[in-house]
Amino acid sequence: MSSIFLFVAVLLGASAVQASPIHFARQSITTLTASQISTFTPYTFFASAGYCTPATTLAWDCGANCQANPGFMPVASGGNGDSVQFWFVGYDPTLNTVIVSHQGTVPTEILPLVTDGDFFLSNLDSTLFPGISSDIQVHSGFKDAQASTATDVLAAVQSAMSNHSANSVTLVGHSLGAAITLLDSVYLPLHLPAGTQFKTVGYGLPRVGNQAFANYVDANLQLTHVTNEKDPIPTLPGMFLGFVHPSGEDHIENSTQWDACPGQDNPSTLCSVGAVPTVLEGDLTNHDGPYGPVTMGCSS
Ligand SMILES: *[C@@H]1O[C@H](CO)[C@@H](O)[C@H](O)[C@H]1NC(C)=O
Ligand SMILES: *[C@@H]1O[C@H](CO)[C@@H](O)[C@H](O)[C@H]1NC(C)=O
Repeated sequence: MSSIFLFVAVLLGASAVQASPIHFARQSITTLTASQISTFTPYTFFASAGYCTPATTLAWDCGANCQANPGFMPVASGGNGDSVQFWFVGYDPTLNTVIVSHQGTVPTEILPLVTDGDFFLSNLDSTLFPGISSDIQVHSGFKDAQASTATDVLAAVQSAMSNHSANSVTLVGHSLGAAITLLDSVYLPLHLPAGTQFKTVGYGLPRVGNQAFANYVDANLQLTHVTNEKDPIPTLPGMFLGFVHPSGEDHIENSTQWDACPGQDNPSTLCSVGAVPTVLEGDLTNHDGPYGPVTMGCSS
């Protein structure tokens, strides 16, 4: 019963947000050039590769997704693709960065995670996130998913950085994987040397936390999150539940037009919030992409 209630509430909340006036000036939307769009491709393949099953911890083969990034050197991987999403860490000599990728989930499994009544806004764990403000709250399910692999991922990143003399870490993920990745992007800098360069690229990212979380991400992370056409997942959980997206949205209008949407939850129809005013106007088949040449999943 509560899940039906919340689902309806999500729909109402989305319409209410569309109707509310915007009281502050927005920077204008800019359209990405073809070459700006193409810079995403290696990261998109790595996000897609998050869906591939690790053969063993170190002997890990992600097939076509990794052949798209020749020279990639896996360092560690884990998860079981069921209760724990797959993840991998490796080093890409072309991009000269450590890559961290988390598996996402199919549209029919992410939808309940952001619409049912089982989640709530929760404080981050002070052991994993030392010194983080208690004003910051995140989706309890995403928090648990990130916590279940956090220390293994940190150890793998430390090993990759030291083995490859790297000081750059790039975190990628799609769907639930993007949510875990965003929390890892807050977590890892708290445990790695000052001066490490971080970059985060999320695809089909649901809302992960509250206003204080979004502000923290804006102030401390270099995040881009790509939203595709009428995918409803990035519009969930609803803003009326207290969830806010950080800045950094790039919205795919169609196969040739990507728009940079400045600010948090930009309401333009060229951005996710405006393109999908209610969940019923969304199209869940847009969740997996294509994001440029890549449709999310191991075999793409
Ligand atoms: C460390 O790097 C070398 C080559 O650069 C590679 O052969 C070795 O497997 C790496 N070890 C780990 C744990 O990644
Ligand atoms: C993409 O969207 C833009 C803006 O709506 C439109 O002008 C353009 O014709 C579209 N291109 C394709 C390939 O659909």
